Amino acid sequence: MKPLARTVSGVTASGIRRFFDLAATIDGVLSLGVGEPRYPCPPAAKKAAISAIESDNDAYTSNFGRISFRQAIAANLQKLYGVTYKPENEILVTTGVSEAIDIALRSILEQGDEVIFVEPTYVSYGPTITFAGGKAVALSSTAENNFEPDPDAIRAAITPKTKAIIMGYPCNPTGATPSREVFEEIVKIAIENDLWLVSDEIYDRLVYGVEHTCLSSIPGAWERTILLGGFSKGYAMTGWRIGYACAPPEVIESMMKIHQYTMLCAPTISQIACEAALTQGEEHVQTMVAAMEKKRDFFVKSLNDAGLDCNAPKGSFFAFPSVARTGLTSEEFTEGLLHAKKVLVVPGTAFTGWSGDSKTGLNHIRCCYAIPDEDLQEAVSRVIDFVKTRV
Ligand SMILES: Cc1ncc(COP(=O)(O)O)c(C=O)c1O
Repeated sequence: MKPLARTVSGVTASGIRRFFDLAATIDGVLSLGVGEPRYPCPPAAKKAAISAIESDNDAYTSNFGRISFRQAIAANLQKLYGVTYKPENEILVTTGVSEAIDIALRSILEQGDEVIFVEPTYVSYGPTITFAGGKAVALSSTAENNFEPDPDAIRAAITPKTKAIIMGYPCNPTGATPSREVFEEIVKIAIENDLWLVSDEIYDRLVYGVEHTCLSSIPGAWERTILLGGFSKGYAMTGWRIGYACAPPEVIESMMKIHQYTMLCAPTISQIACEAALTQGEEHVQTMVAAMEKKRDFFVKSLNDAGLDCNAPKGSFFAFPSVARTGLTSEEFTEGLLHAKKVLVVPGTAFTGWSGDSKTGLNHIRCCYAIPDEDLQEAVSRVIDFVKTRV
């Protein structure tokens, strides 16, 4: 057999999977592992989907996505963040933010172009950069700095080959939610060095006590930003597979070409459902976010009381506590907790590795607290019992 493509075989599968596979072999596991809200989606979305199916509204849509949906996305971004995107040619509906990340990178990268991002980070940035022929340049961040990006480190990492910076805030896995000033500084760097900014804002609605900063709302950012948003997290619609990209028309045109030839259009029924979620689901979203904030407060306090140092993240639905005090690495902790107490978390090493800085990954675990209260309470008491045996 001739060998498979080296660009792909050189990338390892996500470190999350090993533990999910292991958990699947054990009965009664409580999962803080999967990054999704265990919360119903807006009722209006369900109704709209059912009605679309019953009325045979299930044909292909425009490659860009339904125009009424794009209009709703544009109106929502205008209302929330004061940013303007034309529904006709500056918005592309995608199959999740996952697809949007891929085609954004493929649209801007040429062989060997470097892309900077900060770890711990979402698992797909390094691999998608690589698949697109680029070179991942990962920087590290620390708990002491709430895992926020350090503009000076970004500046120092820029070379003549740097093409883009990926920003993903609020952050999966750390919950880092930097202030507007940090974003302004990074936009300044992008302008000075003529770089693209890919801003993955999938957790934009999940912020607690602070306002989300939409990157393209910062003066000078719009023309160099590819803004990505979606429905998986803020609308609790992971399986509907809808995301979107907003960018200057030439970027959207280029992304649309890849989308047109590889995806054709995002699922029609899901587009209809997400449009209803957007136009009629606001109260539902706000109720969910308020519930998540309470879960976060309970979870973070319980961990700190138990002796696991944990910042209170201002966004996402993840906590990223340190397990250093237990004397275990994050993988040992994850495996030990799963076997002894049947609770699944994800080792920090799944979100680091491209930077060569292993410390943060080895010392931290990712916990998704977006699960029903009874399960969360039970999971917390099992974690506490496990930690007691170690500290
Ligand atoms: C930061 C981030 N971006 C993108 C995605 C993928 O989202 P989607 O379900 O829209 O493909 C995730 C999913 O976990 C994520 O955490």
